[in-house]
Amino acid sequence: MEFAFYRKLIENNRKWVEQKLGEDPEFFQKLADGQQPPVLWIGCADSRVPANEIIGAQPGEVFVHRNIANMVVPTDMNMLSVLDYAVNVLKVRHVIVCGHYGCGGVKAAMTNSSFGIIDNWIRHIKDVYRFHKSELENIADEDTRFNRFVELNVQEQVKDLAKTAIVQNAWNKGQQLHLHGWVYGVGSGIIKDLEVNFNDNSSLDEVYKLKF
Ligand code: CO
Repeated sequence: MEFAFYRKLIENNRKWVEQKLGEDPEFFQKLADGQQPPVLWIGCADSRVPANEIIGAQPGEVFVHRNIANMVVPTDMNMLSVLDYAVNVLKVRHVIVCGHYGCGGVKAAMTNSSFGIIDNWIRHIKDVYRFHKSELENIADEDTRFNRFVELNVQEQVKDLAKTAIVQNAWNKGQQLHLHGWVYGVGSGIIKDLEVNFNDNSSLDEVYKLKF
């Protein structure tokens, strides 16, 4: 059963190539020339949130980084390398942090359960809970509280992006770079824009503003 599914993935690929070539015989040749995506997407690794598909983006249009619970952890070399390349080499204009309702990582952070090594990753999300404890604990309904926690986590990750030297350096050089926070509804397919936008570091707490 599982093996049949695996084989089907290669078949799907062949069909997809045929379809793309049917639409545009030069589709892959054009992509082979390089990429200049205007957007960096930082999303959750969750299988229900495929970045390109939910925003109708074609190959070449979105640079993607995904991890558990769409986190921007400032010591994460993987995220920093993706961000640095996207901002300084590809010169993306937008960075979108996209969380999603029903996120298992965020849910885990609300509980006291231990899942192994991932507890150390989840720890960062628990910090978000601590920052917003009074708001969250004033929400009686657990699902509503969970949804709000998902939103607050995205908001904090956008802020954490704004705090990075990579992003502040780009702003300092006059580069156009807009940060956004979205939440995707896995049960609706709809994206909610949280309107937590950053175009410069002026709204950051003083201690986070870097001078170059
Ligand atoms: Co998730």
